[in-house]
Order: sequence, then structure tokens, then C-alpha cells
Amino acid sequence: MNVAAVDRAGVRVVTLDNPPVNAISFAYSAALVATLEAAEADTGVHAIVLTGANGLFSGGADINDFTTAPAAGTKTIRDVIATVEKSAKTYVAALEKTALGGGVELALACDYRIAVAGTKFGFPEIKLGLIPGAGGTQRLPRLIGAQDALQMMLKGDNLDAEEARKKGLLDEVVASDAVAAALALIARVRERAPKRRTSARRTELGIAGLALFATPFVVAQAHKMVPPEDRGGFAAHKLVDAVEASIELEFPRGLAREYRLFDELVRSAPSAALRHVFFAERELGKIPGLEPAAPPAISSAGVVGAGTMGTGIAIAFANAGIPSVVIEPNDDQIERAKQMVFGMFAHQVQRGRLTQEEAWERGQSIRFENELGELAQADIVVEAVFENMEAKKAVFAQLDAIAKPAAILASNTSTLDIDALAAMTKRPERVLGLHFFVPANIMKLLEIVRGKDTSAETLATAIALAKTLRKVGVVSANAFGFIGNRMLFDYARAAIGLAEEGVAPERIDRVMKDFGMAMGPFAMFDLSGLDVFWHIEQGNPQVRSRSAIVDRLYREKRFGQKTGAGIYRYEKGSREPIPDPVTIELLREEAAKAGIAPRPDVSDAEIVQRLTGALIAVGEELVRTGVALRPGDIDIVYVYGYGFPPHRGGPMWYASEQLAHA
Ligand code: 3HC
Ligand code: NAI
Repeated sequence: MNVAAVDRAGVRVVTLDNPPVNAISFAYSAALVATLEAAEADTGVHAIVLTGANGLFSGGADINDFTTAPAAGTKTIRDVIATVEKSAKTYVAALEKTALGGGVELALACDYRIAVAGTKFGFPEIKLGLIPGAGGTQRLPRLIGAQDALQMMLKGDNLDAEEARKKGLLDEVVASDAVAAALALIARVRERAPKRRTSARRTELGIAGLALFATPFVVAQAHKMVPPEDRGGFAAHKLVDAVEASIELEFPRGLAREYRLFDELVRSAPSAALRHVFFAERELGKIPGLEPAAPPAISSAGVVGAGTMGTGIAIAFANAGIPSVVIEPNDDQIERAKQMVFGMFAHQVQRGRLTQEEAWERGQSIRFENELGELAQADIVVEAVFENMEAKKAVFAQLDAIAKPAAILASNTSTLDIDALAAMTKRPERVLGLHFFVPANIMKLLEIVRGKDTSAETLATAIALAKTLRKVGVVSANAFGFIGNRMLFDYARAAIGLAEEGVAPERIDRVMKDFGMAMGPFAMFDLSGLDVFWHIEQGNPQVRSRSAIVDRLYREKRFGQKTGAGIYRYEKGSREPIPDPVTIELLREEAAKAGIAPRPDVSDAEIVQRLTGALIAVGEELVRTGVALRPGDIDIVYVYGYGFPPHRGGPMWYASEQLAHA
């Protein structure tokens, strides 16, 4: 931790240097305030440039500090910014690569902002269940208008330097050396306009044709557009309130309002849960015994099978700039896969996320072939053929003969034994599971399955590949269902158990959606296919108990959406689940046969408790038996792969919170 201060012709260049991301912790704030006060007191200094070391400006306030309220007298980022605000000297922020949260807030308090092209700006606080809490909600709307500010802070997405300049957040974008540009700017503005405090401006709505008197309507609209308070929208509503304050109140009073709202949020359970998710995600790559050496890079890939998964995986590679060859024996399937690739990229162009050229390039980077022999040059091959052990074993034996010796061979299997596949090769140390989730180009989760012989280098390569693919890679041992699907089985079993006791499936789904799950368990059943569940159950004694109802639905060919009926029924061409009395009758019959008495008194709380309880019990077992490395890994799997509400932190965090408040 260091604050470098160098003078250049009356300008003090202050460099934030707190590796790795120049986070502005309490301790670092004290150092910064002292440096800035010294600059203020130095009559030889007329301007200050703020910049960052370690290749970036700042990742914001230090999130580790949020667990405890600062003791009296502790300096925080708010004090740093207050020092800038009250200074009589010119402040210029010279920004590079990344400015997030408190980092942007510090820049907004400066008189001028200059960034190197490609710098990313963002307010990710909302993803931590927070709002900007060092003046961001008051200064950003004053600078770029309430509408754009709200959008930026509500989404928490990054803005590129050029977009930021167009919106008015930046004064200049330069090709390189923001500090030199800042010094030149200071020389230019020294006489004419040395100070330009953002706080002195008024917030405009920023909506063409709407004057400020329309504020109440705009605010009401914004409240309507974000999720309800109890469904993850708690911080979003406070953000709207804070931006409203920036329109209606003088700066100091607006700032006080923001501080109060932030301070409430930082103490809230949802924010604690989201911060846990943030740190759990950063723990994922830390594998005991695995040295952080740079693994070999993956620059070309092969995929076997152009079905739903194989095609999605190829698109994920293309999005990460990795060309792939996809092997599929069935030409009709190749045509369907090409359509899927084309449709996907065309959609991205339509949404303005890709240019025509980018889409074309990505499409061209995927080549379809019939013969495995085309994979001789790939650095990694991901097998995604049918979920059938014999078929996969045959593919692995052939791949071993074809792929170059250094190539990694991975399987996308959901449930099969990775070691059995590795045993078909002479390179078991280069075999592992890469379990993508559907749709593979969109879902963030990637389970990385470590076989008994998988080498440290292979594992490290897979972890790095996950990052390149912009996925969260969670390492799992090679055990039935790995982490996510193993837990899903007991969760599904608990849901079926409740239904057998007479609780309507649609009620169970509604209660779990109200809890925050992206989907109810039965709607998910119908989407993924009851037949898939049934087949997996058949061959696996690890699944604790089978339900007669699953057998019955399978016999009746009620597989879900694909057959027009499962737990629910579906109108032709629609995915809308419609409660079906036939299912209720089947459930009643099977429950009666099994001697399960109906329980009309099951409460909503019991539904949540039994379903989350099932997840927690298996989760604990997975950690105890070493299948998952840490409870946090399980939370990441459930949040990113199975729609567990992030503001509840994942099943294991939820369990610890329940215990703490019991
Ligand atoms: N506080 C504390 N630690 C942070 C941090 C922060 N704001 N940002 C990153 N880190 C830590 C990470 O935990 C990680 O630590 P580790 O090495 O011990 O695991 C290390 O920095 C590197 O992080 P990444 O692995 O994520 O590195 P990347 O290079 O991939 O990404 C980044 C860098 C883009 C800065 C990314 O870390 C990030 O998005 N950080 C979060 C930024 C954020 O949320 N900022 C807002 C903070 S809240 C705030 O400012 C409130 C204010 O309004 C009052
Ligand atoms: P799919 O049935 O859509 O596609 C499989 C494809 O593989 C077919 O096009 C088939 O022609 C092709 N194929 C079969 N044998 C082949 C061979 N020897 N060489 C080349 N191609 C061959 O199946 P899907 O859904 O894509 O699943 C593939 C794998 O991914 C399975 O192991 C499955 O368990 C796993 N998986 C599936 C998920 C899903 O939700 N669909 C989710 C996660 C994993």
C-alpha cells in the first residue's frame, strides 16, 4: 500500500497504489487524505492529478470493509472525496483500464476526467445489494442526466470510455498516457476554468421533451420497472430514491440522503449475501495444492456432437475468440446446428451487441465436419454426444488416437464417470469433465470435474479456460451428478414428496418462486424432461429414493414440454405451464398406493424449509466427502446454474444465516 506523489511544474501527480486493484480501504483512505491535505497545504502546487498504479485506476471501495461499521474517527472514501470537494485547487482524474464504484465516485468529484481509450467505467454496487455510497448517486445524475445515470447504476454494467465521453462523464479520451494529457489540460484551463465542481450543477432528467416537473412520473416509472423489494429489488428502489433526491434536493442534503440509504443497505442481509457471492466467486480458482503457475493457453478447440450442447459450446468458444471444429456424423443435424449458430449471432446483431463483421467472424470460426480425424490440431476437445457410456467410451478411445499428445480431452457428461472415460485413453492425466449448462453459450456456470488422474496442469488449464469463456468454473470431484445435479435430485425428491402429501405442484412452484428461485421445481422438471430424470434414476443407486409417481408419469409418457404434458399440460406451441387435474389424480392414486396420507395443513414456510433443507443436507455431504471444496463453491453452483436467488447467497449461506438467526 503506497500513495506516490510526484510534482511536475506545480502539479502534484498522486498515484493510487494498493495492489491488486487499488481498492480504497479505510486504511488506504487515511493515507490518501493525508497526501491530498499535504498537496492542499503546499503553495507550490496549484493542481492535482489522480491516477492509478497496477495498470488500472481503482476497483472502488474495499468490499472487505463493509462487514463492520467504521469506528469513530476512521477515514473512509467519503473523507477522501470530501477533501477533493473542498479543495481550492484543480483536480484532474487520469484514468486507465478500470474505474469502478468508489473509483468512479472519486473521479466524479474531480474538476476534469480524462481516460485512455478502452477504459471501463461502472457502478457495480447494485450487484452487491448496495447503491453508490460516496456521492455517486448525486454527482452522476448531475453530470449525465438522471435517466442515463439511473440506467447505468441500476444495471451495474460497464460503460466503455468512448460511450462515457459521449454521455458527458469524461472530458477527453486519449490513445495513451492519461497523465500527460491531464498535465496538458491543466496548462490549458489554468487561467480560464480551473474549477468545475460537479456538485455545483443541477440534475437534468435527460429525457427529450420532458421538463423537471415530470420527475414524479419518471420516478414512479422507474420504481415499477425494477423487481419488488422482496424479490431482489431492495437496493434498486433505494437507488431510485437517491437519484430522485439528486433532482429535488440541494447537493449536501442529497448526499446525506444517499449516505443514509447506503448505510441501511450495507447492514442488510441481502447485501451480506451478495458480497458472499462476490468473494466465493473469487475463491473458486484457489485449489489447495495447485500452484498458481500460468497454464498453457487454449487457442483452438474441437467439439464432438452438434446437438444442443455441442453447438452451444462451439458458440461459447467463438465468443471467446477460440476457433473450433465441430464433429457431427449426421448432416441434417449439421444443418440445424448451423441454423442455431446463425440465428444466435443474427440475434446479437439485432440487439446491437455485435457488428455484422464481428458476427460473421465468429460464425466463420466454427467449422462443421463429419470425421473425428479433423481434430488432430485442437488444444482441447469437448465431447458432447448422447449421454450413453458406451458411445462416449468409443469416442474417447478414438480421440486418444487422433488428438495431439498435449491435447486435453473433456466430456460434457451430466452424470457419467469421468474415470471410466479416462481409462479408454493413454493420457488419463489430460482427461476431465467440463459440464456446461444449457444454453451453453449463455449460462455462466461450468463444472470442472477432476478425475482421479487429472493432472494439476490440466485442471489449471480448465480453470483458466473458464475465465476466458467468461464463465464461473467450479471444481468438483468425480462423483455421481457432480455438485449441481446431485443436489437437484434430492431437491426434486423433496418437491415430489410434498406433492405426494397433497400439496398442489403449482403451489409448490409459486412458493419457491416467491422465495426467489428463477423457476419452480416442477416447471423445471417439465422443461428439462422427466424422461431424462427417469433414465438417470434407473442406473444410479446413489439417488436415495425413487418415487412411484416418476415411474407413473414416465409410463404415461408425460415427459414435460416436449410431449405437451408432464406435471403440467401445455397448449400446442406454448411453454406456459397449465395446472392439470390429471396429474393431481395420478399423484393421489400413487400416494394412496404407497400409503401416504394427505396433509392439508402444509404451510408455505414448510415448503421452503423442506426444499431448501434437501439442498443443504446434500450440500453438507458434498463438502464433507470432498466432492465440493467449500460451501461457497456450492453456493456459486446453485446461484449461477440453478436459479437460486443471489440475494440469499446460495443454499449454504442461507443455511448459515438461518442458523445464526435461529
Ligand atoms: N474490494 C476489495 N477487494 C477487491 C475489490 C474491491 N472493490 N475488487 C477486487 N478485489 C479483490 C478480489 O477479491 C481479488 O482478491 P484475491 O486475489 O484475494 O482473490 C482481487 O482483488 C482481484 O480481483 P479479480 O480476481 O476479480 O480480478 P480481475 O482482474 O478479474 O477483476 C475487477 C478486477 C474488475 C476490479 C474486479 O475485481 C471487480 O469487478 N471488482 C469489484 C468492483 C466493485 O464491486 N466495486 C465497487 C465496490 S463498492 C463501492 O465502491 C462502494 C462505494 O460506492 C462507497
Ligand atoms: P443431443 O442429443 O442434442 O446431441 C448429441 C449429438 O451428438 C447428436 O447430434 C448426435 O448426432 C451426435 N453424436 C452422437 N454420436 C456421435 C459421435 N460418435 N460422434 C459425433 N457426434 C455424435 O444431446 P445434448 O442435449 O446436446 O447432450 C449432449 C451431452 O451433454 C450429453 O452427455 C448430456 O448429458 C450433456 N448435457 C446435456 C444438457 C442438456 O440440458 N441438454 C446439459 C448439460 C450436459
